[in-house]
Amino acid sequence: MPYPDELQGLVEHELDGLTFTEDPAIARLVETMRYSLLAGGKRIRPVLALATARSIGRDEHDFLPLAAALELIHTYSLIHDDLPAMDDDDMRRGRPTAHVAFGEDVAILAGDALYAEAFRHVLNHQQGEPAQILRAMAELAGATGVNGMVGGQFLDIAGEQLTAEDLRRLHGLKTGRLICASVECVLLIAGMSRPDTTAYHEFASELGVLFQIVDDILDVTGTDAALGKPQGSDERHGKRTYVSEFGLVGARELATRSHRQARASLASAAPRGAPELEQITDFIATRSS
Ligand code: IPE
Ligand code: IPE
Ligand code: MG
Ligand code: MG
Ligand code: MG
Repeated sequence: MPYPDELQGLVEHELDGLTFTEDPAIARLVETMRYSLLAGGKRIRPVLALATARSIGRDEHDFLPLAAALELIHTYSLIHDDLPAMDDDDMRRGRPTAHVAFGEDVAILAGDALYAEAFRHVLNHQQGEPAQILRAMAELAGATGVNGMVGGQFLDIAGEQLTAEDLRRLHGLKTGRLICASVECVLLIAGMSRPDTTAYHEFASELGVLFQIVDDILDVTGTDAALGKPQGSDERHGKRTYVSEFGLVGARELATRSHRQARASLASAAPRGAPELEQITDFIATRSS
């Protein structure tokens, strides 16, 4: 499935160029951050941000600080998600997880540091009207806080009995909101707001849920080598997922429906077409890694 490789290349370059300290006494912390960050993820969230910029006729280069920050935050979430107290996984992005390679204490701090450095990077380097950047940062903080990713991760570990509606909400929070923020923050920095952005919001929300439904399916059907992380992690931990609740056939059917819905919302958000966003949407639905 085609992927906007050119945008991914820009993101890789931006991430590789980030520096965090000159202090040699803190070098091992930075080594851990870079170890996890530069291990070759798909870069879906920053690529989505750059593709959104293109779809509204803006130069993607203008949004690279925001794009990098999204990936710093995502990488922090992966490091913490893999910890022994969380999903206890020992492989990520095809390498031993950060806590396996550097120890749990350093891994926890690397995650904490990536989160703070994400905001520092945007606040120091993102061009735009200060009021619009503040609005975007409020969205990013909200999307990753209690009513976003971390709240969703809490619901995930709480393991309560879930209705179909609860499960969609869980996925929307733990994965959906950061994906949604990847689109929304670009629109906010560009000075756009509701109701002009409603269709984009619907597109990005659906894409976020679709992403996690497919992640749940791949946890069952994928291989360690293709995924770069251990297959079967959800079942080992008794996680409630789209597959545990609806079966593989049911989860695939729901993914197909969600993909169709995301494409329909995208068509109304960008009626003249948005080739990179269309590619990412199809990639997310059909990916195998
Ligand atoms: C994995 O995210 C964690 C989830 C939110 C499901 P990705 O599948 O985007 O992981 P990388 O960044 O490509 O490694
Ligand atoms: C994690 O979901 C979502 C995050 C916020 C990191 P998963 O636990 O399903 O992610 P993977 O499968 O380990 O990548
Ligand atoms: Mg998890
Ligand atoms: Mg996990
Ligand atoms: Mg998973």
